[in-house]
Amino acid sequence: MSRVSALQDVLRQRMSIRRFREQPVPESLIIQVLDSGRWASSASDIQPWRMILISDPEIRRGLIEEMHRYLKEDILSTGASEEAEKRINAELELQLDAPILVVACMTKEAFGERSDRWPSEHAVGIQSVAAAIQNMLLAAQDLGLGSCWCSTPLLCPTAVRQALGIPQGIEPQAIIALGYPAETPEAPHRRPFSEAVYLNRWNNKYRLAR
Ligand SMILES: Cc1cc2nc3c(=O)[nH]c(=O)nc-3n(C[C@H](O)[C@H](O)[C@H](O)COP(=O)(O)O)c2cc1C
Repeated sequence: MSRVSALQDVLRQRMSIRRFREQPVPESLIIQVLDSGRWASSASDIQPWRMILISDPEIRRGLIEEMHRYLKEDILSTGASEEAEKRINAELELQLDAPILVVACMTKEAFGERSDRWPSEHAVGIQSVAAAIQNMLLAAQDLGLGSCWCSTPLLCPTAVRQALGIPQGIEPQAIIALGYPAETPEAPHRRPFSEAVYLNRWNNKYRLAR
């Protein structure tokens, strides 16, 4: 398939980075990443995202300790598999390792009267925040930074709220770990085009001409 623009290269080169160098990330780059999120599409242009930049190592440590405490008590102690426990610990470790974290939240307040139609509005809110996150991941890649989208806050929203003073009505959706990459992972596998795209009707595989 032809690749004709810098954007096409960036979106193919982006991959999740889970080990970071200690090298600090210049503030100007962090701002560019955060600002890119703001330009995402959102349902009815509501822009329900609110991003919390965590650059203070002590706050980061406190956040991760709080999440760990909560997950240990609430999930890991209630019969989670060894594999799930390993995965959670690895996620927390990578967030501790990253010099910059961004906590992506969704605010119900942005929906105004439409919040009466929760939970259907809820779903479009989540999709809108996800669009902003993807913009930030691509911007990070474009700027030579590595990133990883972590869904840990969905497992322990109370812990994230407590650690960062987030009020009710604001949902922490994800943590984005950012920094200079200290690894070059293997290119991730992608399902073939014919499996991902159907033509005109369900399951009619779109086969590309060679
Ligand atoms: C909604 C969402 C949640 C994710 N949560 C996690 C996570 O909690 N921990 C993690 O290490 N990676 C997480 N990822 C990253 C995926 O594992 C990763 O994108 C996937 O394996 C494909 O690899 P790639 O990002 O290198 O293309 C998440 C990605 C998405 C889109």
